[in-house]
Amino acid sequence: MKGVILAGGTGTRLYPLTKIINKHLLPVGKIPMICHGVEKLRNAGIEEILLVIGKHSAGLYTELLGGGKEWGVRITYKIQEEAGGIAQALSLAEPIMKPDEKFVVLLGDNLFENPLTTYVQSFREQAEGARVLLKKVHDPKRYGVPILEEDKILMIEEKPEKPKSDFCVTGIYMYDTAVFDKIRTIKPSGRGELEITDVNNVYASEGQLAYDVLDGWWTDAGTFQSLHQASDRLMK
Ligand code: G1P
Repeated sequence: MKGVILAGGTGTRLYPLTKIINKHLLPVGKIPMICHGVEKLRNAGIEEILLVIGKHSAGLYTELLGGGKEWGVRITYKIQEEAGGIAQALSLAEPIMKPDEKFVVLLGDNLFENPLTTYVQSFREQAEGARVLLKKVHDPKRYGVPILEEDKILMIEEKPEKPKSDFCVTGIYMYDTAVFDKIRTIKPSGRGELEITDVNNVYASEGQLAYDVLDGWWTDAGTFQSLHQASDRLMK
């Protein structure tokens, strides 16, 4: 199984830090943010990793990680030229996948405590479709919020005014290669981006979106507060 880490984006909420360096290269604990995702994938037995990065700081990524040897993985890079959204960034992975391959996608700013091994194993055993990891949060409005029915997600509402559960969909996704056709069917959202939630909702409408609830702490380190909190936890 391959892994894809999406590390583009402008990181406006962390300005002016992100004026000089891409968000995913900021230190979290003792290493740059991006390295936590690389370690999580490797520990789940995923050694072939595609990093989708922006043009900003592109050279720094290769200086830090190179081909991945030091980190026990094989890394290749793709550049997302424009701010086209998470699903657009993901579409850049299509050429590296074999026809029936399954893979794991991480948003590079999602930091979490526990290994991914058991969830990846469940996805390996899943006959078809996609799988996402959920987490209970106190502020679901900030995220994609799932509407659940037993072991399936019926639908995800992106940043709803009135969340229908206190779970959020984390930026930890598992897909089959059908995802690329699904990305081609969606249209840009109000903010002009191809939204990953719209892609996941195509799976959900087909009854093909499974989930697990992630154990241990989880945060997306997009704000100063969450970055600080993640750093604190990862120092231990
Ligand atoms: C994105 C997704 C959202 C998800 C979140 C997790 O939001 O659109 O569904 O809950 O990542 O980090 P964004 O961080 O782009 O606002």
